[in-house]
Amino acid sequence: ALISLRQLLDHAAEHNYGVPAFNVNNLEQMRAIMEAASKTDSPVIVQASAGARKYAGAPFLRHLILAAIEEFPHIPVCMHQDHGTSPAVCQRSIQLGFSSVMMDGSLKEDGKTPADYDYNVRVTQQAVAMAHACGVSVEGELGCLGSLETGEAGEEDGVGAEGKLTHDQMLTDPEEAAEFVAATKVDALAIACGTSHGAYKFTRPPTGDILAIDRIKEIHARIPSTHLVMHGSSSVPQEWLAVINQFGGDIPETYGVPVEQICEGIKHGVRKVNIDTDLRLASTGAVRKFLAENTREFDPRKFLAKTTEAMRDICIARYEAFGTAGQA
Ligand code: G3H
Ligand code: 13P
Ligand code: NA
Ligand code: ZN
Repeated sequence: ALISLRQLLDHAAEHNYGVPAFNVNNLEQMRAIMEAASKTDSPVIVQASAGARKYAGAPFLRHLILAAIEEFPHIPVCMHQDHGTSPAVCQRSIQLGFSSVMMDGSLKEDGKTPADYDYNVRVTQQAVAMAHACGVSVEGELGCLGSLETGEAGEEDGVGAEGKLTHDQMLTDPEEAAEFVAATKVDALAIACGTSHGAYKFTRPPTGDILAIDRIKEIHARIPSTHLVMHGSSSVPQEWLAVINQFGGDIPETYGVPVEQICEGIKHGVRKVNIDTDLRLASTGAVRKFLAENTREFDPRKFLAKTTEAMRDICIARYEAFGTAGQA
């Protein structure tokens, strides 16, 4: 059944677990997420970016998610729009039937330039007014995602601030967060606490507290009933990097956010954990391996089935680690 983000995360807060929010663009990702959820009895957040809508087309995307709900009626599914760059974008997603939208007013409408606080409040208020009138939840964002190690916003094209960020920009201010939530009434708030989008988060194996866990604690203490969201939460599995590079890829040494660090965040109020890159890496590794080892195969279903399997295993591992398993 379709469920709003608010409903789902209220339950998660009450029972102290986190929910991975996986990005979807195609059938294989959708199937991987749902099979994993069904196997582990987990509630689901699937999110579609502007890029996903461009790739699949809005009607296909919408029906992909509706098909998932139809085939897995026992699993609660939140259909979330990721990184909306304007209230108008959120409005279109509400019309498409999404049960949750992200209004990312931390960046201007170009999705690149850091925006000022007043702009962020203004556009987020507009999105909340529309969404709440329709029973749709809203995620806002305050602060700019960036790796505390490299100061980079992340190298994915199209998402996130461009270039170097200051240490202050990369850590959401707890006082400002409280003001922002009071002014906008968002259901969930994405915070900057040391993660960044994409595969290139850290250049060295992360040890100890690579995230600003104390900052998460402070924010949670100020706004305990606002669900915190951690973007850029891929762990960048070294096994899949090795497979990709063994079968013709050339991805440089790089590290993601350790699952244990995310679990620390979940202990302190993080409820939604955004993951896209990990499924991309697993998918690419599976295709490269299959085609390299089966040089006479040309039926796409053969290698696509391998991608589904690879992504499904990552989803299962995250549902289990975050305590989502058993909560559907
Ligand atoms: O936050 C960004 C997600 O990884 C979506 O990426 O815009 O390439 O679909 P995308
Ligand atoms: P990753 O690039 O770490 O998977 O983050 C995805 C994300 O935050 C989508 O909004
Ligand atoms: Na989002
Ligand atoms: Zn994001």
